[in-house]
Amino acid sequence: MIEVKGVSHQFNIGKKGSEKIVPVLHEINLHIKKREIVAIVGRSGSGKSTLLNLMSGYIRPVKGEIHVMGEQVTHLSEGQWADFRLRHFGFMFQSFQLIPSMTAYENIELPLVLQGMDTLKRKLRVQELMERVDLHDYAGHYPGELSGGQQQRVSVARALVLNPPIVLADEPTGSLDSENEMQLLGLIHELNRERGTTFVIITHDEQVAAIADRTVALADGRLKPGKEQVTYEV
Ligand SMILES: Nc1ncnc2c1ncn2[C@@H]1O[C@H](COP(=O)(O)OP(=O)(O)O)[C@@H](O)[C@H]1O
Ligand SMILES: [Mg+2]
Repeated sequence: MIEVKGVSHQFNIGKKGSEKIVPVLHEINLHIKKREIVAIVGRSGSGKSTLLNLMSGYIRPVKGEIHVMGEQVTHLSEGQWADFRLRHFGFMFQSFQLIPSMTAYENIELPLVLQGMDTLKRKLRVQELMERVDLHDYAGHYPGELSGGQQQRVSVARALVLNPPIVLADEPTGSLDSENEMQLLGLIHELNRERGTTFVIITHDEQVAAIADRTVALADGRLKPGKEQVTYEV
């Protein structure tokens, strides 16, 4: 489903002339199979978000190749990536990243609008998702008028509204209380079984790692397989 082959990445920081190179990832190889739930763990600054951003084309690797669903995506243009992302990925973030000037309904609808779906179909799909995440009474609410847990459910519904084959999540439970966290993990598990959705989830959270089929750990820019061999801290 996703193949990361020999990927290395570094950031150049500082002013031109006195730039400093910060190596972040070294020769990463990771093969994520269809229907897998893979947890990526590792201490803060170990390169987890960078790896996810490489998989989704927000940054380009300085070395190596990435294939998603059989397609070599390393050299797609910005426009091609935007289109590719819309068709293949759903995203979940710790910070929700909702658009404050749009209602819950409009936030969830947005990917459907970008995809060009007609109004009636959009309405049915958004309503279905709102039911699913238990938000049907909040369609007209703006993010600022919703609790943290409700905002998170809006962002989850938006991530899933196009039925993406792959969901990439960066600390999706990071700001949730335990009840909302259990709900989200339940939903992830359900979608994985019902639809075969593949999940790649960055997490510090033992509960999330527990629902994963596999945990890989980043340390010193390198990937290490297996939960048992790894210690990590928040
Ligand atoms: N855009 C950037 N520019 C420069 N350095 C960055 C940038 N993004 C991340 N880094 C650095 O790369 C390293 C890994 O960051 P990140 O992938 O966000 O780690 P994690 O998600 O595991 O906490 C850190 O040292 C961070 O400071
Ligand atoms: Mg991060």
